[in-house]
Amino acid sequence: MSATPRPAEDERKPVTLTSLAGMRALGEPIVMVTAYDHPSAQVAETAGVDMVLVGDSAAMTVLGYDSTVPVSTEELLMLCRAVRRGLRAPLMVGDLPFGSYEASDEQAIGTAQRFVKEAGCDAVKLEGGGASVARARAIVGAGIPVMGHVGLTPQTAVSLGGYRAQGRTAERAAQVIQDAVELQEAGCFSVVFEAVPSEVTDLAMARMEIPVIGIGAGPSTDGQVLVFHDLLGIYDGHRPKFAKRWADVRAEMVRGVSAYAAEVRGRTFPGPEHVYSIPPEELGRLNEMTHARDEPSGAYDW
Ligand code: KIV
Repeated sequence: MSATPRPAEDERKPVTLTSLAGMRALGEPIVMVTAYDHPSAQVAETAGVDMVLVGDSAAMTVLGYDSTVPVSTEELLMLCRAVRRGLRAPLMVGDLPFGSYEASDEQAIGTAQRFVKEAGCDAVKLEGGGASVARARAIVGAGIPVMGHVGLTPQTAVSLGGYRAQGRTAERAAQVIQDAVELQEAGCFSVVFEAVPSEVTDLAMARMEIPVIGIGAGPSTDGQVLVFHDLLGIYDGHRPKFAKRWADVRAEMVRGVSAYAAEVRGRTFPGPEHVYSIPPEELGRLNEMTHARDEPSGAYDW
């Protein structure tokens, strides 16, 4: 079966919660990618993706932290604002960082409101089941669409035994499915399944009525999400098993910067085509002025 042709960039209608539900109903795969700045947002827009996540994975991919835990609300809000300026049609989801929503419903609503009011996000994402279900319900109750995230939840990876697939025992698999169903009942418009065995995802899908977006969760979800830097080969750190690469952009960037450095060092850059010139008559006048400067009564003292 061939994929449905995509409309040209400027003809695309903005993606909405309703259109996402419609895609799910029609069995049309939903494409989501992360973005963290203006150029990556423009790439996602031009490529015609359906949803863009300003993920807290930015902590590692662009801010250089060694996990997603340290990133602050202020840091993510700044990245969200940059992405907002580069996006038009895709639905934009902002990731609530660790420590910004867990303490109380009030804290969760307050942070979610900042992502919408100050950074123009259409929706927010939070991680986990359990207490996060009540937080999701509270944010939805405040009028902000929420995406859940179950399975491997990197913000609490230490409690989960590290960055590893979740739901590999019957009990843990049942917990993943229960978390997803509870988030759905709390009013989430969508849920991310991360690093979940595909058989477990298949079982869960029979109970899900909202779009499920997978990352390392097999092919039966309604859509897929990947980290921009993973799929383009920009990030040099750990690459999970599910992160297929479609380009090697880092190698190309290193090649470009190395070539630039070599030309500067070899004095072959800048060439004649990269320099500005001054009209000959102005250059003549400048030479006269420079000469006048050398006279004792000259008007210029440089
Ligand atoms: O932060 C992120 O990029 C994410 C995706 C992996 C779903 O949460």
